[in-house]
Amino acid sequence: MKITQAEYVISAVGPAQYPVDGLPEIALAGRSNVGKSSFINKILNRRNLVRTSEKPGKTQKLNYFIVNHAFYFVDVPGYGYAKVSKKDKEAWGRMLETYFSEREPLKAVVQLVDLRHPPSKEDIQMHDYLAYFGHPVITVATKSDKVPRSKHQKHKQIIKKALGLQADDPFLIFSSLNGTGKDEAWQALEPYLH
Ligand code: GTP
Ligand code: MG
Repeated sequence: MKITQAEYVISAVGPAQYPVDGLPEIALAGRSNVGKSSFINKILNRRNLVRTSEKPGKTQKLNYFIVNHAFYFVDVPGYGYAKVSKKDKEAWGRMLETYFSEREPLKAVVQLVDLRHPPSKEDIQMHDYLAYFGHPVITVATKSDKVPRSKHQKHKQIIKKALGLQADDPFLIFSSLNGTGKDEAWQALEPYLH
C-alpha cells in the first residue's frame, strides 16, 4: 500500500464526534500496551503519528486517523490495565459498546495479541465480543521480534486454539520493531478499505 496521506483527525468519546463522511473504518483492539498504536505507525511508515508509550493506558479515547483520504484507522483504548478505577472501566465499556454495536462504517477489527504469551482471559472475551457483533476480525500477534523464530509457529497455534480460530481465519505474525508482517497486514486489510 502506498501511503500518500496519514493524519490525526479526532479523539471521540461518542457518536457526536464520529466522522460523518461514511469512509470505511478499521479499528485496533487489544490489551493495553500490546502495541496497537505502534502497529498503526509501522504500517503507515510514520514514526510518531500515533503516540505510543511504555506506560500502559496511554490511549483513552477513540482516536481517528485518516489514510489516503480514503479510510480511517481507529485506535481503541486497551483493556486489562489494572490501575483503572471502576468508574473509568465502566465508562470505557460503554464507549466500546456504543462503538462496536452500532458503528456502520466499521468494516473490520484488527485484534492485537502478544506473540510471546497465550491470550489472556480478556483477549478471549474481546474476541468473542467482536464476533458477537459480527465484525470480521484479523488477529495480529505482535512483538514477534521478542520470540525466537523457531517458536513462532508453536506460539501461533497456541493462540489460535485459545481464541477458537479456524485454520483459515485471518491471522498474522507482526513486529512493529522490524516490520515483520507488514505486507501481510495490508493484504488482510485490503478487502475492507473500499
Ligand atoms: P495503549 O495505548 O496503552 O493501549 O497501548 P498500545 O497497545 O497502543 O501500545 P503501544 O503501541 O503504545 O506500545 C507499548 C510498548 O510496546 C511501547 O514501549 C512500544 O515501543 C512497545 N512495542 C510495541 N510494538 C512492539 C513490537 O512489535 N516489538 C517490540 N519489541 N516492542 C513493541
Ligand atoms: Mg495506544
